[in-house]
Amino acid sequence: MTQRKKIALIGAGNIGGELAALVQRKELGDIVLFDIPAKADFAKGKALDLEQNGAVLGYDARVTGTSDWADCAGADVLIITAGIPRKPGQSRDDLVATNLPIIRNVADSAKKHCPNAFVIVISNPLDAMVYEFQRRTGFAKEKVVGMAGVLDSGRFELFLAREAGVSVKDVRAMVLGGHGDDMVPIFSACTINGVAATELISKDKLDAIAARTRKGGGEIVGLMGTSAYYAPASSAIVMAESYLLDQKRLVPTAALLNGEYGYKDLYMGVPCVLGAKGVEKIVELKLNDEEKEMLKKSAASVQGIVDVVKKAT
Ligand SMILES: NC(=O)c1ccc[n+]([C@@H]2O[C@H](COP(=O)([O-])OP(=O)(O)OC[C@H]3O[C@@H](n4cnc5c(N)ncnc54)[C@H](O)[C@@H]3O)[C@@H](O)[C@H]2O)c1
Repeated sequence: MTQRKKIALIGAGNIGGELAALVQRKELGDIVLFDIPAKADFAKGKALDLEQNGAVLGYDARVTGTSDWADCAGADVLIITAGIPRKPGQSRDDLVATNLPIIRNVADSAKKHCPNAFVIVISNPLDAMVYEFQRRTGFAKEKVVGMAGVLDSGRFELFLAREAGVSVKDVRAMVLGGHGDDMVPIFSACTINGVAATELISKDKLDAIAARTRKGGGEIVGLMGTSAYYAPASSAIVMAESYLLDQKRLVPTAALLNGEYGYKDLYMGVPCVLGAKGVEKIVELKLNDEEKEMLKKSAASVQGIVDVVKKAT
């Protein structure tokens, strides 16, 4: 008989709460909603509200709020949102001073309590935080990924669908590179039900859509005063579900590169097959010269912030 899966959500804030609601709705397993001791009651209250929501709607999942890492022990999946989100005017990189000690603290506890988990990092600056988490824990690189590309691609798909006047269901897009303003929308991988997007949308419009996608997170921060959380949570759930159900989805994932695309010892968004073994394959697309150049610029930005992280004691 298979045991119920355990999904530990580290950070019970906006994304953490929405993650818990989605895990519950999909009945992927039981949920532990973890936050710092000062927010233990908040996490417990949120967990109770969610369990009551499950009772109303008939979702069969336990939700436990806690600030005790022992409650996360043996988790199958860890999704990390611990840290602070951006405020208007801030870049993701501005968060490094606050979020680096937090990710290190989380990494040490995860290593002790959840050594077999598949880990999805969401905290920003994403590529540097997931790099540091993997470096500090020494967990297998296949089991530690960052979420950004699914979200950025979703934003790209929405804007493309609106421009083409078609259903979002028919649009496929891929955004690679780092989760920053240099992210790389891949036009050649952009289709509307198999038809190249370039056939339906003019180059000028495509460029404007790519520019809006690059600033997609900031647009929402400017409006709400804090980061997006519905779409980020859904994006991480796509990845967690692919791992838990061995779906082998091919999704843009921040993965540790070991020569792929010409980069080493760097986390960056690339197309990955996610299955029961974690990152089962990194797919190397044939990029054109312009795309290669954009990826180089994006990699340089990520490397810059990783260098800061490596130097920080
Ligand atoms: N990767 C992406 O695409 C993406 C998208 C949106 C937001 N984000 C990032 O996700 C992070 C979380 O965003 P949010 O909107 O949920 O923020 P939030 O402030 O609502 O929640 C973060 C929670 O983390 C908790 N926390 C702080 N230190 C902790 C620790 N040591 N252990 C456990 N929990 C701790 C806080 O108490 C808080 O409850 C931010 O860094 C944000 O920038 C990433």
